[in-house]
Amino acid sequence: MRKNIVAGNWKMNKSFEEADDLVNDIMTKLEEKELGENTLMILCPPFPYLEMCQDYSNDSYFAIGAQNVNDNEKGAYTGEVSATMLSSMEIEYCIVGHSERRAYYGETDAMVARKVDRLLENDIRPIVCCGEVLEEREAGKQFEVVSRQIKDGLFHLDAEKFGQIIIAYEPVWAIGTGKTATPEQAQEIHAFIRNLIAEKYGKEVADNTSILYGGSCKPSNARELFANPDVDGGLIGGASLQADDFVNIALSF
Ligand code: PGA
Repeated sequence: MRKNIVAGNWKMNKSFEEADDLVNDIMTKLEEKELGENTLMILCPPFPYLEMCQDYSNDSYFAIGAQNVNDNEKGAYTGEVSATMLSSMEIEYCIVGHSERRAYYGETDAMVARKVDRLLENDIRPIVCCGEVLEEREAGKQFEVVSRQIKDGLFHLDAEKFGQIIIAYEPVWAIGTGKTATPEQAQEIHAFIRNLIAEKYGKEVADNTSILYGGSCKPSNARELFANPDVDGGLIGGASLQADDFVNIALSF
């Protein structure tokens, strides 16, 4: 059966020392209170801190993910990081298609599809983000938008490869705004996504896919969000920068 997953997206925050403190605080908290057996915690720090976090993760409290990857294999792409590089550091997960990358760096569904391919070639599991902006929600277009993002970004995969995918539904109007989707809104669209997957790959693949919610998820609302049958955890931004909050969210299943 699918895992419950809580992934922390640190975005472009923290100095090296602060990042080191945060990991240590998370580890201390996890020594006090253990995660549920079916819960996986993933930390997604900025690239320069991956190795430091990876060293701590050898104690297996959590796994490590990157926040982005380039869609080419290698070569003259100054400033970019490839899936092969991540794989050579034994990074196991990578966020793809985050709304900030789509909005600020022109990431398209076609690029998401290529990044997913590079990651899977390197045995890294993609955490693929989808979600509508406010105007789309207000126009009732959220299903159309999410369906296009998932089909164009992922449905070229065969069922075996799709089995490696983790999906994060993140309504853009809820990211960093303090405005959270209601548990009903989250469940509605998560069920819609699972149904899309079932239509394409069958019920078993759909039932095994973890679908995370993201957007102002915090300890005070995590429990009611995660209580929904199709919400399998969260991709956490702001609240993942505080060890207490993040661990409490991970204990909310
Ligand atoms: P937030 O960010 O929790 O700060 O809203 C979520 C995300 O962007 O992944």
